[in-house]
Parts: sequence; structure tokens; C-alpha cells
Amino acid sequence: METKPFETVCIIGAGFMGAQIGLHCATHGYTVWFVDILEEELQRAVQRHSEELDARLEKEQITPDEKEAILSRTHVTTKIQEGAPKAQLVIESVPERLEIKHEVFTQLDEVCLSHTILATNSSSIRISAIEEVTNRPKKVLNMHFYPPVWQRTMVELMRGTATSDETIESVRQFVRTIDLTPLLVRRESTGFIFNRVWRAIKKECLHLVDNGVASHEDVDRAWMIATAMPAGPFGLMDVVGLDVVRDIEMVYYRESGDETDAPPKFLLDKIERGELGMKTGKGFYTYPNPAFQAPGWLKGDKEN
Ligand SMILES: NC(=O)c1ccc[n+]([C@@H]2O[C@H](COP(=O)([O-])OP(=O)(O)OC[C@H]3O[C@@H](n4cnc5c(N)ncnc54)[C@H](O)[C@@H]3O)[C@@H](O)[C@H]2O)c1
Repeated sequence: METKPFETVCIIGAGFMGAQIGLHCATHGYTVWFVDILEEELQRAVQRHSEELDARLEKEQITPDEKEAILSRTHVTTKIQEGAPKAQLVIESVPERLEIKHEVFTQLDEVCLSHTILATNSSSIRISAIEEVTNRPKKVLNMHFYPPVWQRTMVELMRGTATSDETIESVRQFVRTIDLTPLLVRRESTGFIFNRVWRAIKKECLHLVDNGVASHEDVDRAWMIATAMPAGPFGLMDVVGLDVVRDIEMVYYRESGDETDAPPKFLLDKIERGELGMKTGKGFYTYPNPAFQAPGWLKGDKEN
């Protein structure tokens, strides 16, 4: 086991991703400070942590003492100047808007110790678009996690224009100490590594249906039979949310200007009708019991 390169980690933004990343660090022995502008988000994160640990307790994956120890290592505050200066690594996970990221990194650069490493968990904003607001470009990087953090056990690390080898090495070591696999993105890349692969699959599947080649059900059946996965690309898009899928496709489209990268009209029509996937009860499938989970569906017994 690698030795811990840091003692304390600070998470900025205790929402969906920040809460998970911080809990995972605390589970692996780190002291964690959560900073959020909203007190209710902090309380929600504490509640989610407690529920997640109770579920692990029930499965006998942890003991009651371990639960208490993990929770005692986590701290919450609405003041960045209270949490961030205590950390040797800060992971920012605020909403995906450049101006918010700029504001947070400007504050972090002011309040953090000079050796503290600053990372963004952004899905699409490169650190090179953020680094300029700091005076420590050698100590900033993208650190991209996948939810649920404890199940999708990889973290993609991507440099900015000046990120040092030392920074990458300590973060790589840190990632191993929280039992995740660090993947190094060697050149700046929208979508890092895995999202590029997933995006190619998603784009082709959307084209197959848009061009009338196959139904989304048969595309999913092909995928599920070939890979033995429990859902196909359309089922997965429903989980992500079709509006989020559209927004991500738009990022690639704006970057390339290539018409084939634009989200297809049938997807936009679904969004227009409020069919956003699992979160609205209908997307490509209907929820909570999507057809692809029904017995016999894979054999083509039932159409959705
Ligand atoms: N959702 C995903 O599946 C996913 C996966 C990987 C990466 N990401 C990235 O993670 C980041 C966060 O996404 P999320 O889904 O957790 O969003 P979210 O909306 O659930 O959480 C964002 C949190 O940031 C807080 N916040 C807003 N402004 C702040 C500020 N100035 N200082 C401190 N806190 C502030 C909000 O109150 C909220 O609690 C985004 O950059 C996103 O691209 C998301």
C-alpha cells in the first residue's frame, strides 16, 4: 500500500459528486473538509453519508466503530477560508460553469497554503482554462471521477500547460491510497479517456436509430448480448438524463463544427416532450421498471 501523500483533503461543492468523493477519501483515512455555499447542501451531504454508511453497515462491510470514525473525520463549512487552508489537496466540484470555477480558484489561490494542490473534477472544462486565475500553475490539474466513486474505480488525471511531474506523481499516489486507479491523460482531451470511448458508442447508436437502421431496443439488445452488460447504450443514456446527453453532445459539436456531431432531432424532440430518462419516468424506456429488465426481453419477446 502506498503511503499517504496528504493528511487533509478539502472538497469544494458538496453536491452529487463532491459528497461522494469526500466520503470516499474519509473512508480511506483522510480528514475531509467540505465547503459549500449552501448550508442545506452540506446537511444533505451529511445525511447521504450517513445513509451510505448505514447501508454498508447492514451488509457488514464496516463496523459501527468504523462508521463513527469515518464520520468524525468529515467536517463541513460554508466558509472557504475555514476549510481550504487546512488541506494539502483541494478538489473542486462546483457546477459546470467557467465563471464559477474561476471565482472558486481565485479564492482558493488566496486562502490555500502555497504547496497545496488544486484540482477540478470538471467533466468538460480543461484546467488550462482555469489555471490562469491562480499563481500556482504547476500545482493545478484535472482530476475526473466517475459516480458512484466506489464502484467506477478510476480517476483520470490531466495536466494544464504547466502542471509539474511532482504534482501528477503525488496525486497519482493519493488516488492509489483511496483504492482507485489513476489514468493519465497525456494530452488535453475533451472527454478525457473513457468519456471519449463512451461518446463514440453513443454517437453511433444515436445515428443508427436516427437513420432508421434499427430500433433503440435492438441496438441495446445487440450491446447487451455482445458485452453481457445489464443495460445497453440507450438504457444508459436514460440514466445519465437525455438533457445532459444533449448538453454533452453540444460540447463536442461546438468544438468540431461537424454536423454529424450535433444531437439528432429525435433526441431533441424527446427532450421537448419532457422525456428526460429515468428522472422523469420516461426516456427511451419507462421507469421504474424498464422493459430491458423484463425476463425474455433480450430474446425479443417484448417490445417496449
Ligand atoms: N454528475 C456527474 O455525473 C459528474 C461526473 C463527473 C464530474 N462531474 C463534474 O462535477 C462537478 C459538480 O457536478 P455535480 O453533478 O456534483 O453538481 P451538483 O449541482 O450536484 O453540485 C454542485 C455543488 O456546488 C455548490 N456550489 C455552487 N457554487 C459554489 C461555490 N462558489 N462554492 C462552493 N460550493 C458551490 C452547490 O451548492 C452544489 O452543492 C461539475 O464540474 C461536473 O462537470 C459530474
